[in-house]
Amino acid sequence: MDFAGKKALVTGGSSGIGKATAKALAAAGAHVCIIARTPGKIDEALEEIRSAAVDPSGQTIMGKPADVSDYAQARAVVRELVQAGWEPDLLFNFAGIAHPGYFHELPLDVFRRTMETNFFGTLHMCKLVAPLMMRRRQGHILNTSSVAGFIGVFGYTAYGASKFAVRGFTDVLRSELKPYGVRVSILFPPDTDTPQLWEENKIKPAETRALAGTVKVMSPEEVARQLLRGVAQGQYIILPGLESKLVYTAAGLLGAKLHWFLDAIVRKNQRERGGPPPVRDELLAELYGLQGQTDTDG
Ligand SMILES: NC(=O)c1ccc[n+]([C@@H]2O[C@H](COP(=O)([O-])OP(=O)(O)OC[C@H]3O[C@@H](n4cnc5c(N)ncnc54)[C@H](OP(=O)(O)O)[C@@H]3O)[C@@H](O)[C@H]2O)c1
Repeated sequence: MDFAGKKALVTGGSSGIGKATAKALAAAGAHVCIIARTPGKIDEALEEIRSAAVDPSGQTIMGKPADVSDYAQARAVVRELVQAGWEPDLLFNFAGIAHPGYFHELPLDVFRRTMETNFFGTLHMCKLVAPLMMRRRQGHILNTSSVAGFIGVFGYTAYGASKFAVRGFTDVLRSELKPYGVRVSILFPPDTDTPQLWEENKIKPAETRALAGTVKVMSPEEVARQLLRGVAQGQYIILPGLESKLVYTAAGLLGAKLHWFLDAIVRKNQRERGGPPPVRDELLAELYGLQGQTDTDG
């Protein structure tokens, strides 16, 4: 696929992998519209994206503030674009959040917000854009999962659930849109050097850190380069970097046997720190009204 002249709608285009992809698309001659929640971050990103464009006066480079987890906001943006004659040829869904933590400590609200953004945000955009593409019998949608969307990574009960959901949804979407000539891809990035990863690193459990330490961190520019090559070649599964390809293959071949390897890293880390973290008295008090109990009490 030649991206020149194509209209690309990029959610999460103000930061990280989304911004790097928006810049690469602009550099390939595409018209780009980014969506994110924070207007200031959108404006800063637009400057960078414009400066990457091959023909800044001829290419549309614009941004729309919206929260994709809110269907009404997402629909207002897509309606505005369609009514202005700007029907996307490409939809790249990157908008996402990640909040790692021990399952028993993660507030329920984190699970809901993560699902609302990562899964429902992706679903909303596909719901709004797919019919346009189906009608025209062309277009390409890329949804973003994660390596944590095909293996269970310690510390990612909320994030992993949302990214497995994106994967399941996208697998079915692919088969339903194919007869209409609309292509679908799923991206499984490894750890990538973006603001999301920096924030995660501040709160990651030690075990998650130990697991992450076994893989190389990629640059968002390299992830963008590889994903655009995958989209151009019509690939469904896009695995940037050699390590994510190896882990994907190992997960497919080994199934649950891969747990032995992951569990061994967790066990070693916990042994070094005197065992798994205790269940806090405050948590027991909050959940059951128990006082002064510990996880070792009978
Ligand atoms: N970085 C990694 O290691 C890694 C690995 C695997 C998968 N991924 C996935 O790759 C995607 C991009 O991640 P990244 O690391 O590039 O993250 P990032 O740098 O934090 O960028 C996230 C983008 O999404 C936007 N966003 C977040 N929530 C939104 C919402 N509700 N509505 C609209 N926009 C929203 C953010 O802008 P606002 O905050 O202003 O809305 C920002 O533009 C995510 O889906 C992430 O889960 C990342």
